[in-house]
Amino acid sequence: MSLVVRDVTKSFGGFRALDAVSFAMDGAAMLGIIGPNGAGKSTLFSVVSGFMAADRGTVALDGRPLDRLGAAARARAGMVRTFQVPREFHHLTVRENLMAAAPGQSGEGLLGLFLRPGRVRAEEEAIGAEADATIAFLRLTAVAGTPAGRLSGGQKKLLELGRALMAKPRLILLDEPFAGVNPVLVAELGERIAALNARGIGFLVIEHDLAALSRLVPRVLVMDRGRVLAEGPPGEVLRDPAVREAYLGGAAA
Ligand SMILES: Nc1ncnc2c1ncn2[C@@H]1O[C@H](COP(=O)(O)OP(=O)(O)OP(=O)(O)O)[C@@H](O)[C@H]1O
Ligand SMILES: [Mg+2]
Repeated sequence: MSLVVRDVTKSFGGFRALDAVSFAMDGAAMLGIIGPNGAGKSTLFSVVSGFMAADRGTVALDGRPLDRLGAAARARAGMVRTFQVPREFHHLTVRENLMAAAPGQSGEGLLGLFLRPGRVRAEEEAIGAEADATIAFLRLTAVAGTPAGRLSGGQKKLLELGRALMAKPRLILLDEPFAGVNPVLVAELGERIAALNARGIGFLVIEHDLAALSRLVPRVLVMDRGRVLAEGPPGEVLRDPAVREAYLGGAAA
């Protein structure tokens, strides 16, 4: 798996949220993304995952340019994102939410249901089995039948990861997976992410919890005001005076 982002620029009105952002990730890597509030981290995810069009620049996965593809096509190409604020269906159960996140269901069309009832049933069973495996992997068994709207913040973050996994991606973009999650669950979630990475799934992880992120990823990219400020091992980057200044400046403003 390789992701190459080159010169990505995105403005909202006159405001440049991303200013010529470039970076590359090789292998089944894990790369953290840090930076003050408003640095452009979530916007970068939106552009890379195809939820927003860039004004300029390119995104390529395994050498294939994705610029003309929307989010659904990029998910089929192997890349999915999660959202800073989880986007589960409140009234559906955890299991139903996972099933709904599986891509390419022929059962979506009524016509398919009439023409190929057997195939639709087989597909639904396969998706159900996949959902159950994901529930077991994320240790959500106790709440599998619970409407997602009733989950805790931490459980919603686990479900958000599960929904991403249903697309069987090679690369997952996690937007603040640890925000609002209790320390025990942070450790557990980190361990699940590391286990997925060991199976060959790459991760880009935006996170403000620098201690938890440093335990998870070998490298971080630091963003500030739409630009890449630094990149390197977490300990090294956090000693960088320019990085410290960006954080302190943000706090003082
Ligand atoms: N859809 C939008 N329309 C207008 N401005 C936007 C939009 N999305 C983001 N912005 C602006 O772009 C800048 C970067 O926002 P972004 O959400 O990417 O920051 P972030 O680094 O993820 O911050 P945080 O750590 O607080 O989540 C902010 O100033 C934000 O107000
Ligand atoms: Mg954000």
